[in-house]
Amino acid sequence: MKRKLVFFSGAGISAESGISTFRDSSGLWEHYNIEDVATPEAWNTNTDLVSDFYNQRRKQVIQSEPNSAHKLIATLENEFYVNVITQNIDDLHERAGSKNVLHLHGNIRLAKSSGPKQEEKFYPIDGWELTVNDKCTEGFRLRPHVVWFGEQVPALNDAAKIIQEADILVVIGTSLQVYPAAGLVHLAPDNCKCYVIDPNVDDFEIPSNFVNIKSKASDGMRELIKRILD
Ligand code: OAD
Repeated sequence: MKRKLVFFSGAGISAESGISTFRDSSGLWEHYNIEDVATPEAWNTNTDLVSDFYNQRRKQVIQSEPNSAHKLIATLENEFYVNVITQNIDDLHERAGSKNVLHLHGNIRLAKSSGPKQEEKFYPIDGWELTVNDKCTEGFRLRPHVVWFGEQVPALNDAAKIIQEADILVVIGTSLQVYPAAGLVHLAPDNCKCYVIDPNVDDFEIPSNFVNIKSKASDGMRELIKRILD
C-alpha cells in the first residue's frame, strides 16, 4: 500500500513562480495593512479597495505558472498517496497536476456570496476581475472566496484528519504565523516523519522531530525526494 505523504504549503512555495509572500522583506504585508484589505469589516466599509486588492492578486496568479516544486509534488503521486493542504489562495498546485488539494484560506479563482448565509457555494471567476455587477443567484454581491482574518476556517477539521493519518509530513514555504492553520502541523502522529523546507528557517526554530531542509522550495523538493525515495 502506498504511504500517505502530506504537504502543508504556504506562500513560499509560489515565490519562485513570482507570487509575493506576505511576511518576507518585500512581502505583501509590507505594502498593505491587513485590517484594510483582509477582514470582513474592510469589505463592508471599503469594498472597492478590497475588491481591487484581490483583483490584483488574481491577475498575478493567472499570469504565473507552477514552478518545479509544485510539479515535483504532483509527480510524487506515482509513489505515494499525496494530499496537499495549502494556505495559498493560488491554484498552482492544481495546475501542476496535484489531485487532492485542500485550500484552508480559499481560492482566488472562485467567488462566493457576500449575503448573510455563508453557504459553501462557489462561482468560478472568468478572468481576473470581480466587479460590483457580479452577483450570486440570490442577488447579493459576490466576494472573493478568501478566508479573511476573524473568519472561520471551514476546511480545518478535514485538514486535521489528513495530518493525523500522515506517514510523512512536509511543511513547505510557510512562516507558521497564522492560526488556527499553523497549529495543524503539531497533529502529526508520533511515527510520522516530518520535514520543513524553507530557506530562512533555522534548526532552533522548529520542533526537534522535524528535519530541516534549509532551501528554496524547488531545491528543497529535490533534496526531499532523495531522502524519502531512498
Ligand atoms: P508568509 O509570507 O508568512 O511566509 C512565507 C514563508 O516562505 C517564510 O517562512 C519564508 O522564509 C518562506 N520562503 C520565502 N521564499 C521561499 C522559497 N523560494 N521557497 C520556500 N520558502 C520560501 O506566508 P504564509 O506562511 O503562507 O492568510 O502566510 C500564512 C497566511 O498569512 C496566508 O495564508 C495569508 C497570510 O495573511 C490570509 O490571508 C488569511
